[in-house]
Amino acid sequence: MATDRQVTRVVTGQPTSDGAGVRLTRVLGTPQLDHLDPFLLLDEFKSDRPGDYLAGFPDHPHRGFETVTYMLAGAMHHRDHVGNEGELVAGSAQWMTAGRGIVHSEMPRQKDGLMWGFQLWVNLPARNKMTAPRYQDIPPEKIPEAELAPGVRARVIAGEAGGVRGPVEGIVTQPLYLDVRMEPRSRVTVAVTPGHAAFAYVYEGRAALGGGANAQDIAAGRLAVLGDGDRLEAVTGDAPARFLLLAARPLREPIARYGPFVMNTREEIAQAVEDYQSGKLASGV
Ligand code: FE2
Repeated sequence: MATDRQVTRVVTGQPTSDGAGVRLTRVLGTPQLDHLDPFLLLDEFKSDRPGDYLAGFPDHPHRGFETVTYMLAGAMHHRDHVGNEGELVAGSAQWMTAGRGIVHSEMPRQKDGLMWGFQLWVNLPARNKMTAPRYQDIPPEKIPEAELAPGVRARVIAGEAGGVRGPVEGIVTQPLYLDVRMEPRSRVTVAVTPGHAAFAYVYEGRAALGGGANAQDIAAGRLAVLGDGDRLEAVTGDAPARFLLLAARPLREPIARYGPFVMNTREEIAQAVEDYQSGKLASGV
C-alpha cells in the first residue's frame, strides 16, 4: 500500500553572504537545520541588484562531496584549476563531483539583470570521498520535462518522474532532483524512493504538501522536511507553486565539516587543509 510522505519539519531560509560577498538565502546548512543526510547545504541566490552578486565566488577548493548548481535566470561562468570551463545559463544544471579535490571559481557572466538559482551540496560516502573529480554539465535543452498531472510539470534533473529519466547519471546517493511547476488548483502525486531522505523547497507561490488531512501549507522561502513513505502529494489552491523536490540515499556516516571540505574525521579535514595549502589537493585531476 502506498504511504504518503508527510511534512515533519518546516524551516525558513536565512539571509547570509558567501564567496566574495554574494548575498543569498541559506535554507539548509544553518543552525536551524545543519544537514539532512546526505544533503549538506542548499542556497538560493535571487537578486536583480548587481551589487548582491557581482563579486561572485573567486577561486576556492572543495573536497569530499558534490556541488550541484541549477540556474533559473542569469548566467555564471565556471572555471577550474585545470582549465575546465563552461557557462551555466538559465535552465541549466551542473553536477560537480569534487571528490579528492577541485579548485574553481564561479563568477557572474552578467553586469545587471536578474540572477536566480540554487546551489546544493550532496555528501559522498567515505569510500567515494577521494574519487576523481567529475562534471556533468547539463544544458537547458537536455533537461527533460514530464507532465505529472493536469497543470503540473516537472523538469527532471536527476532520477525519474512520470516515466521520464533525468540526464544526471552515476551518482552514488541515487538522487531525485525535480523542479516542479504547479498551476493553481492542481494536484499531483510524485513517487519518492522509500528510505531516502527527502525535502521540498518552495521557491514561488505556495502548495499543501503531504497526504490528506495532515497536509501542510508551505509558502515560498520555506523548506519542508519530509518523513518516510513512497510518494509525495502536493495540492495548490488559488496560487500557483514552484518547488524543488530532492531525495537521496542517506549515508549514516560521521560528518567532519570545515568550510569547503566535508570528510568523516578531523584528521581528514586537517589533511585536506594541508593538501590545499601545499597544492596537492588539486593535483592529478
Ligand atoms: Fe564552489
